[in-house]
Amino acid sequence: MAGTRITGTGSYLPEKVLTNEDLEGLVDTSDEWITARTGIKQRRIAAPDEATVDLAETAARRALDAAERSPGEIDLIVVATTTPDRVFPSTACLLQGRLGVVGAPAFDVQAVCTGFIYALATAHSFLRTGLARRALVVGAEVLSRILNWEDRSTCVLFGDGSGAVVLEADDTPEHGLLSTHLHADGSQDSLLTVPTGIATGWESGTPEGTIHMRGNEVFRVAVNTLGQVVEETLAANGLEQGEVDWLVPHQANIRIIQATAKKLDLAMDRVVVTVDRHGNTSAASVPLALDEGVRDNRIRPGELVLLEAFGGGFTWGSALLRW
Ligand code: ACO
Repeated sequence: MAGTRITGTGSYLPEKVLTNEDLEGLVDTSDEWITARTGIKQRRIAAPDEATVDLAETAARRALDAAERSPGEIDLIVVATTTPDRVFPSTACLLQGRLGVVGAPAFDVQAVCTGFIYALATAHSFLRTGLARRALVVGAEVLSRILNWEDRSTCVLFGDGSGAVVLEADDTPEHGLLSTHLHADGSQDSLLTVPTGIATGWESGTPEGTIHMRGNEVFRVAVNTLGQVVEETLAANGLEQGEVDWLVPHQANIRIIQATAKKLDLAMDRVVVTVDRHGNTSAASVPLALDEGVRDNRIRPGELVLLEAFGGGFTWGSALLRW
């Protein structure tokens, strides 16, 4: 089976910045509380006329440019999103239309904050088995549209954005994507959920149409579960703690990120952190952070990079790659 390698990354953040100070005017909160509990200082909010596909398209075009590929060379599009533009067509199909190419399979993956890892693992499997040669894998979200802006326990946590990679079949399997690990536990759906959907009366602007989270309990599960998936990834690759060069984690909370870095015996200057500026952008957070680490040349060729995420479902997963 062929190996796969990321040949280009891209990302996009909406222009509007919402700071913790701005939120102090909306709900009973403080910059001090948000910073101490989460590490978040600000987040981006999509403009009213910006939809998920708009965010996805910009990130995708930037990733294609970085990979020196044209849209016509892509033969698989996978978009991870929890906030699709429409019930159907999928955001991946809308993106394909925007890119002006037809024919290749295009579909969405929904695994909330773990969506990008699920999408990457799916594309990796397609490429390894020869079903495709070059995939565009995108995480894009307008989480601001499913937030209750009167609920201080959730509205301070999330933001909008997008990230993308081009993943190509590659015959040097010691480089590129080395392993992926996906998991889910659907028995704890009530701890982190938007409790309504198309079949159960979802309505924009109602509390039942927004994110509900028992933060404290989710926090405990997230730390434990990410610790386990990190151990699983090291063991699957015959690695010891301290051998990974970079951690590119899902950006939900700096305290969760620090706990995972400790599990890996990694100093925080080997962790790509964006949560302070982006908040939690769900499926977009890992590719946004990866793009930042690649573009500012922190992540260098030959280095071992661990991507991980945890989110609603519960879902969690990781991917290890040699850059
Ligand atoms: N400002 C001020 N006070 C607040 C705020 C706020 N924005 N939000 C909650 N509080 C209060 C609570 O009411 C509570 O007050 P009380 O003690 O008087 O009852 C107090 O702060 C402590 O609340 P906790 O929920 O216990 O705070 P905690 O330290 O757990 O931090 C947080 C909350 C940041 C949400 C944390 O639990 C967390 O990060 N959880 C995990 C999030 C996560 O990883 N989610 C998964 C991905 S998301 C996805 O998949 C969509």
